[in-house]
Amino acid sequence: MDIRIKTPEEIAGMREACRLASQVLDFVAPLVKAGVSTLALDEAMEGFMKENGCISACKGYCPRGFTPYPAATCISINHVVCHGIPTADKLLKKGDIVNIDVTVIKNGFYGDTSRMFIVGSKPGILAKRLVEGCYEAMWRGIEAVKPGRPLNDIGIACSKVAREEGFSVVHEYGGHGIGRDFHEEPFVTHFDTKDNSIILRPGMIFTIEPMLNAGARHISDLRDGWTVVTKDRSLSAQWEHTVLVTETGCEVLTMSEGYPAVPEWVTAKH
Ligand code: MF3
Ligand code: CO
Ligand code: CO
Repeated sequence: MDIRIKTPEEIAGMREACRLASQVLDFVAPLVKAGVSTLALDEAMEGFMKENGCISACKGYCPRGFTPYPAATCISINHVVCHGIPTADKLLKKGDIVNIDVTVIKNGFYGDTSRMFIVGSKPGILAKRLVEGCYEAMWRGIEAVKPGRPLNDIGIACSKVAREEGFSVVHEYGGHGIGRDFHEEPFVTHFDTKDNSIILRPGMIFTIEPMLNAGARHISDLRDGWTVVTKDRSLSAQWEHTVLVTETGCEVLTMSEGYPAVPEWVTAKH
């Protein structure tokens, strides 16, 4: 198990990359409207990255056993859990819940974040509960990040929210160490693995990115080689931040001016 402890220089580079990733989402937020294609959003975000001196980490990304990822971002709608591929024929419609996941590379450092958007002003009751419940799960996971505590505390905290809200947690995908590589150790689960052997240390950087389903936790893969959907086609939501373990807790690196309101119980503590 090799979890890299970042140097002060690396932390500075990560702060910059992560802020940029969040700014891409600030930029795209007003464009997320009924009638727009997911490809148009993807192309707009890629243009913004270029203007701001960074590139997409996703485009051409090709883990073993996969085909190169064809787009700059992932856009996952309704029952799509993650890795939705933007296309010209996929148009957003009122009531859709949409995850946009952005990973940029700036000066060799990776910044990774995603947010949910609800199209139109009249979301379904379940859709709204799922999006908000997932947001709370992510922030409870972030709250659990403390040096000296087991990594597994994060999964315990996220899954407690899911359980209380009656939602399930996806097991197959999770957060990950990140830095000069896209996916480093550790693998961050959003459920309780009962394995408390990995202890958080200052200087670790990883993502917290719970996927919550309205139905069962099980997933299937579409034949495009990337898109992951809920097996029962129930709605799925995801939020993601990249965080740094500090001496006292953690610093959320993927923040920017346009970030949505954080839960009151988070702001109260800082
Ligand atoms: N950004 C995703 C994550 O949070 C990974 C996307 S890989 C891609 O880990 F190739 F689908 F873009
Ligand atoms: Co990630
Ligand atoms: Co991501």
